[in-house]
Amino acid sequence: MVFCYFCRMKKNEIVLSGIRPTGNLHLGNYFGAVKNFVKMQETNECYFFIADYHSLTTHPHPDNLQGNVRQVLIEYLAAGLDPEKATLYLQSDIPETAELYLFLNMNAYLGELERVTTFKEKARKQPNNVNAGLLTYPTLMAADIIIQKADKVPVGKDQEQNLEMTRTYARRFNNMYGVEFFPIPTAFNFGEALVKIPGLDGSGKMGKSEGEANAIFLNDDPKVIRKKVMRAVTDSGPTEMNQEKPDPIQNLFTLLNVVSTPDVVEYFDDQYNKCTIRYGDLKKQLAEDIVAFTAPFTERIKELSADDDYILKVMNMGAEKARANAQKTLREVREIIGFRKIY
Ligand code: TYM
Repeated sequence: MVFCYFCRMKKNEIVLSGIRPTGNLHLGNYFGAVKNFVKMQETNECYFFIADYHSLTTHPHPDNLQGNVRQVLIEYLAAGLDPEKATLYLQSDIPETAELYLFLNMNAYLGELERVTTFKEKARKQPNNVNAGLLTYPTLMAADIIIQKADKVPVGKDQEQNLEMTRTYARRFNNMYGVEFFPIPTAFNFGEALVKIPGLDGSGKMGKSEGEANAIFLNDDPKVIRKKVMRAVTDSGPTEMNQEKPDPIQNLFTLLNVVSTPDVVEYFDDQYNKCTIRYGDLKKQLAEDIVAFTAPFTERIKELSADDDYILKVMNMGAEKARANAQKTLREVREIIGFRKIY
């Protein structure tokens, strides 16, 4: 087994991750997840999917669901995922996941599910729709991951707790049946801390559900990007040399760090430390660097959107490979649990 010192992965480790089809991809999705997907497809067996079962927890309309699924696939491809290198598929094309989810739910407990931070947040945000799918979100996520026997899961910081739950359920299954069947997967970012890209509203993370103005999407028009950045929350400026940056300002620097060159970051950092910073200049630079960063994506997204045949071909190719693998795992799981062989 070859271990790569630089990427901190064993060459034969299986990589898997997914994104919910709840809108266009934003910079948080890109820097927290997709950027690593693109890198990892070069060295490992990779499975990247669109979590359409998960999106049912917020009750999308069928037309929106279909359109969003297609859009995420287009954006995966536009970001550089290659269906010849990685298996790209839809979660709902692998119904075996639902059966494994059922098995895992039998050993998942109300107390531990109710303690999950994202469940508590979502229950607060949608008090009229605290459905069982929302509660058991982590067991479905565990099923996604372990059905492909994944070792590494590239995700952003917000998914850390869900990954901990996956580890618990994989271990619990192995212990319960006295087998070393499922690998215990880890959240992965090349040995670095998991990424959290902030939003533009001065607090919290960039997210699809935090309001349009909080997130910058890969296919936003340059005019929209400039407007959103210029409206980002700031304060009245530093009053002491080298003072710590408050959250809204640190957020702008975090964004600058991912899209701008180091000399640009250094320049504005220096200006901040000397109390001579002009936030208007910082925002203009940030907006232009984001526009330059997203321009190639926007182009590719436009091209791919016109190619229905190709998109369908990619979906079918991925479904076939991911499903064959999942069926094998499920056959073995049924045998371990003690069910009769049916396929
Ligand atoms: P989702 O769709 O909310 O987000 C997809 C990926 O983008 C990352 N991300 C961020 N990273 C950094 N900063 C941000 N502001 C930011 N916003 C989003 C997320 O961490 C994630 O990696 N539960 C998952 C989907 C899922 C999944 C899975 C992921 C279902 N099954 C199995 C991995 C493995 C979700 O809702 O991601």
